[in-house]
Amino acid sequence: MATERTFSIIKPDATERNLTGAINAVIEQAGLRIVAQKRVRWTRAQAEKFYEEHKARPFYGELCDFMTSGPIVLQVLEGDGAIAKYREVMGATDPKEAADGTIRKLFARSKGENSTHGSDSPAAADREISMNFRLDEIVG
Ligand code: RTP
Ligand code: MG
Repeated sequence: MATERTFSIIKPDATERNLTGAINAVIEQAGLRIVAQKRVRWTRAQAEKFYEEHKARPFYGELCDFMTSGPIVLQVLEGDGAIAKYREVMGATDPKEAADGTIRKLFARSKGENSTHGSDSPAAADREISMNFRLDEIVG
């Protein structure tokens, strides 16, 4: 499988509980390399733009409120088949449906406050990485 990069966010419910290191340990144990990382706070406009594909969904407002409620950690992860692999490592959106050992099963509070984001396609990964990192901030 080809080496890929995917975009990850450690969400406010996780930073609030000091889970950045614990989540990074799961990521690294799965063989994904953290090649860029920064802790930021998003403005409402940044959250709305990032999640614009979900604009028509009933949870859009709540999601943008949540993603601006505290610090988040933005990451670029690199590895073989990184996009699909990280989706597997995160587990299902709803922690009640997530497999044992996944980040969301281990840590998520609910379907909304679910600890991490991961890109769902190569096009999404390109868009999300370029929205959040300059090329020189990614060190592979
Ligand atoms: P993500 O984009 O964060 O990696 O998660 P995902 O693909 O598994 O889920 P997606 O359908 O893209 O939804 C984006 C985020 O919106 C929140 N959500 N809340 N309350 C709800 O029914 C609901 N559904 C989705 C979650 O934070 C989800 O990760
Ligand atoms: Mg998604």
